[in-house]
Amino acid sequence: MKKFSIVYKNWNPKEQNHREAICTLGNGYIATRGAAEESGNTEYNYPGTYLAGGFNRAKTEISGRTIENEDFVNFPNWLCLNFRPTDGEWLDLERFKVLEYRQTLNMKKGVLERNFRVEDAEGRKTHIHSCRLVSMHKKHMVGLQWIFRPENWSGKVEFLSALDGNVINDNVARYRDLESHHLVSHRTDLSQDQIIQLSVQTKQSKITMAQAASAVILHKGKPLPADIETHQDEGRISQVFSTEVKEGNEYAVEKTVAIYTSRDVAISEPMQEACKSVRRAGSFAEMLREHTLAFETLWHRADIKLVDDDKNQLLLRLHTFHILQTVSPNVIGVDVGVPARGLHGEAYRGHIFWDELFVFPFLNLRFPEITRSLLMYRYHRIDEARYAAKEEGKRGAMFPWQSGSNGRSESQVLHLNPESGRWIADNTYLQRHVNSAIAYNIWNYFLTTGDRKFLSFFGAEMFLSIAAFWASMVIYNAEEDRYEIHGIVGPDEYHTAYPGSEEPGLKNNAYTNVMTAWVMQKALEILEIIDTRRKEELLQLLEINDMEILLWKEISHKMYVPFIKEGIINQFEGYEKLDEFPWDEYREKYDDIHRLDRVLENENKDPNNYKASKQADVLMLFYLFSVDELHLIFKKLGHEVNEDVIVKNIEYYRKRTSHGSTLSRVVFSWILLKYNQLQSWQNFEKVLVSDFEDIQGGTTAEGIHLGAMAGSLDLVQRGFLGLEVGEETLWINPHKLDHIKEMSLKVNFRSHWVLVSISGRNLKIVFEEGHKDKLKIGVVNDICEFHKGIPREFSLA
Ligand code: BGC
Repeated sequence: MKKFSIVYKNWNPKEQNHREAICTLGNGYIATRGAAEESGNTEYNYPGTYLAGGFNRAKTEISGRTIENEDFVNFPNWLCLNFRPTDGEWLDLERFKVLEYRQTLNMKKGVLERNFRVEDAEGRKTHIHSCRLVSMHKKHMVGLQWIFRPENWSGKVEFLSALDGNVINDNVARYRDLESHHLVSHRTDLSQDQIIQLSVQTKQSKITMAQAASAVILHKGKPLPADIETHQDEGRISQVFSTEVKEGNEYAVEKTVAIYTSRDVAISEPMQEACKSVRRAGSFAEMLREHTLAFETLWHRADIKLVDDDKNQLLLRLHTFHILQTVSPNVIGVDVGVPARGLHGEAYRGHIFWDELFVFPFLNLRFPEITRSLLMYRYHRIDEARYAAKEEGKRGAMFPWQSGSNGRSESQVLHLNPESGRWIADNTYLQRHVNSAIAYNIWNYFLTTGDRKFLSFFGAEMFLSIAAFWASMVIYNAEEDRYEIHGIVGPDEYHTAYPGSEEPGLKNNAYTNVMTAWVMQKALEILEIIDTRRKEELLQLLEINDMEILLWKEISHKMYVPFIKEGIINQFEGYEKLDEFPWDEYREKYDDIHRLDRVLENENKDPNNYKASKQADVLMLFYLFSVDELHLIFKKLGHEVNEDVIVKNIEYYRKRTSHGSTLSRVVFSWILLKYNQLQSWQNFEKVLVSDFEDIQGGTTAEGIHLGAMAGSLDLVQRGFLGLEVGEETLWINPHKLDHIKEMSLKVNFRSHWVLVSISGRNLKIVFEEGHKDKLKIGVVNDICEFHKGIPREFSLA
């Protein structure tokens, strides 16, 4: 139980914003930060509530330009609950004496508890145990319960329950110069049966959100008589319950809220549905029971158990918990993608980048139906991607680096460097490699699930359109008889242009080029896998003729890969000429050089001038492909890549990476696993604490890093345990692990559940469930047959 809970044992206002992100509760549909219910938006409290897919666009004048951003809207605060003795002050932890405080994120049940004792200016002591949930079972329902005990006083008391629509987007200090008011058309109402109602609309995207709430005060399970007064102010509705309480008695205050929006399916009108759901909700205990059960089901599939390390176990669970809360089964069939910062804050504006590349391997092996739905987010935006390609004079579909509501490019054109206070041009939108990530995800979803229907219909259409896009991006270099790609940016965001150049973009980013060769190879393979009729349909629809297919073959053999020397792959053409970065000097000069780009810009210097990377770039290739796969891809291109080359490249780039993205250490931990277990483990442990310890100094408060969280889980399953999804079978080939003695997890391979456990050098595998009685699994080097329900053990000595 202990290892399922994050416990904060004191009240520390300065840490509150960070804790709010860590203690966010969500169900894939809606999420609310772990802010105090009795407080509003203050220096130390930020009660953000976000709707999956809840975007709004707004324009701002900045540096003489009008820029339009699509923001992740902070919706009305449903939490509001407070009390005061009728002649006293409203509870406020920033002003009251806090006698005891304990905040617990109970991840097993999916609830946030706050247990505290306070004393007001009159010496009145009160004990409150607060518990909240965002129902995983009924996605529209959220609720709060207070167990309230006046310790040394009796008398008249008021409880206040409200819905507050007077909120703006205020979570990220860097964005404060930008338009932050997204809600209009606030309407409040009260029903005859005392349900308070608030509806709002987003200004531009016109999403209506309706919230309806009812509250009750109970003593010994029975409603306590109370006078109720309702106040309808501009954008806010509140109810004050006046009643009498007695010293030492316990009272329960329960607030039940339903949230609906105009994006929902199977509804008549949001407010009608919200009121109906509140009326049908039942008690807090009933909601909690169903919610806990839903979480139990999720944990049953998703839990990764590490027996002998309490901290790492807890952090793996924290990561699992936040993934389940962001992309839970409630997203199935709903039009949402994978927001890089979860539903936990406003950084990156809820946008969808390439981070799903790090999230899907975990989902594929447990909740493939969720991956499928999230891949459909891309499919639904294929027309926008086609249009974007056409606008650039290209063919096929060009998905944008940052995507939001309708799939138009939502990448920033300017961003604020908080170090210098300057707004600078942002050219990271040129990361066209996101397209290959989408293709890679389609292929790996197919490999893990065998879902041919998806592949031949949606998957192939996207994959082939991406292949057509790359084929129109390449430039033929006749002298070298090679294909090149110019004017793009690789994963390393510190390099977006050549030194001194006004024009953004680089030539021949090795990662992008190799991925392009891979996309071509796989596109040709997919054409052979899908039915002939479907193939013909797609070739016609996408206007792919024989010449084009020939070109794809050519590209897969002749893509240019730049090398620096003796097997060192060049990050991009020209990288070799950049200056070495004086790492030691800067490490001495600054406490933190993760975000070297900001440090340098503040000194009027340009990261483009140096051999210094924000994150793994070339090395991504060793993360995405096994040595055998790499060998094949490179062999086709006429290069030899073996373990020796891999080690050399890791060594070369390891020294030149600042890990300014939390994704970077996931990649490093992975690629070092075979060659330097200690360093791999150190990187893994850094990934585990990325958000929990907020290693980037303030970024977690603006939203968790979903890619790194999921990446840590994938490191355990595919890295440490050596699970590999092959074309025919699942392989299990654990690494020799010095740091993990005992662990177990469950995976789903093509609809068969397999339990894998390791204890010392003993490997135990059980084929637990599936539609066949026997299953073949590759263990280390051999294919072994498993009978349903019968465990087999292997010695890894
Ligand atoms: C990283 C990107 C990532 C984005 C969103 C950036 O800092 O450089 O690789 O996709 O954050 O997580």
